[in-house]
This record gives sequence, structure tokens and C-alpha cells, in this order.
Amino acid sequence: MIEAGVLARTGGRTLNRIVFGTEEIAERVMEMGAEIGAYYGPDSDILVLGLLKGSFIFLADLVRRIDLPLHVDFLVASSYGAGTTSSGTVQMLYNPTAPIEGRHLILVEDIVDSGRTINELTIALRARNPASIELCALLHKHVATDLILEPKWCGFDAPHEFLVGYGLDHAEDFRHLPFVASI
Ligand code: IMP
Ligand code: MG
Repeated sequence: MIEAGVLARTGGRTLNRIVFGTEEIAERVMEMGAEIGAYYGPDSDILVLGLLKGSFIFLADLVRRIDLPLHVDFLVASSYGAGTTSSGTVQMLYNPTAPIEGRHLILVEDIVDSGRTINELTIALRARNPASIELCALLHKHVATDLILEPKWCGFDAPHEFLVGYGLDHAEDFRHLPFVASI
């Protein structure tokens, strides 16, 4: 995207740099979809669970690259508020209504940072007796020390910077940027 287009979308606020570009992301998401498609059998009862809001663009692109029958639902957990560091409390704002028991869950996260969100959700979802739970994350900061579920599929190793775009926000801004940038 040309610079003028970026500034129009950010309301004139400048970004630090583009970390993962649009084409690069599309290619990687296509690969991940193929890997997921190859991992499960054609008769697996798959439920893709997107963590809102950050995963909405990634999930939308990803599921269109998975050549298997599957269902999609979402869950909402909130931990960051308007800050750029984790506040340490994960609030469950929406629980998926889709049945979980006996199904193969694929949790879709935009970014794994401290791992607190994913740890709490994994515990809560395991209690509902799925056949399996795997994590698919677009980005992984590799700072979590006690992750109980490592991503089976990870798009990119993320730099230790605050990232926005392609679903990721800062105080709800920048989610609609078609690339991932640091601020
Ligand atoms: P964790 O619980 O610390 O792993 O945080 C995970 C959640 O925090 C992600 O799903 C994001 O919504 C948010 N988050 C973590 N790092 C970033 C970032 O660099 N930019 C935007 N959101 C982030
Ligand atoms: Mg967020």
C-alpha cells in the first residue's frame, strides 16, 4: 500500500515499520491451511474457534485455505484494555455455544504474548472434553515461559515490539491494516 493510503487509514498517525507484508502473510496463511488440512482426517469433526477480536481477519483467510469440512465459532476473552502490556486478568466475555465434547478444536489466536489468555482458555475448554485441542497462531512472541499449549501451527515468530494490523489493535485502532506493523 502506498504511504498516502496508510496515512489515510491511520488518521495520519505514523507506524514504526511494516513487519509482515500483505503478500507474505497471504502466502504463509495458505501454507498453514494446507498443513492443517493434511493433519486431520476427512472424517474429523473439526471446530475452529477464533479468539475475538484479534483473530477475525486471520481466521477468515485461514478457513478458506483448509480443504476439509469444519465448523466455525468464536470466543471472546479480554486482557489488555487500552494498554500495550498484559494486565494479567483474562475475562471471558463470550463462551462458544457450539458443542465442544468429542470434537477436534483448533484455537485460532492472532498473537501469543505472555500466554496467559491461551492458558486460561485451554483449561476452560479441556473441561468440556474435546477430542483434541490444537493452537494455531499467526504470531508468536516466544516470551511465554509456561505455555500449556504450544502452537502446532505458527505463522511467524514476532519481534518483541507492539504490533498492529491484520486484526491486531492498539486501543481498537489499526485492526483494518492489511499488513502487520509495529508502532
Ligand atoms: P497474552 O495473554 O499475553 O498471550 O496476550 C494475548 C493477546 O494479547 C492477543 O490475543 C492479543 O489480542 C493481545 N496482544 C499481545 N501482544 C500484542 C501486540 O503486540 N499487539 C496487539 N495485541 C497484542
Ligand atoms: Mg487485542
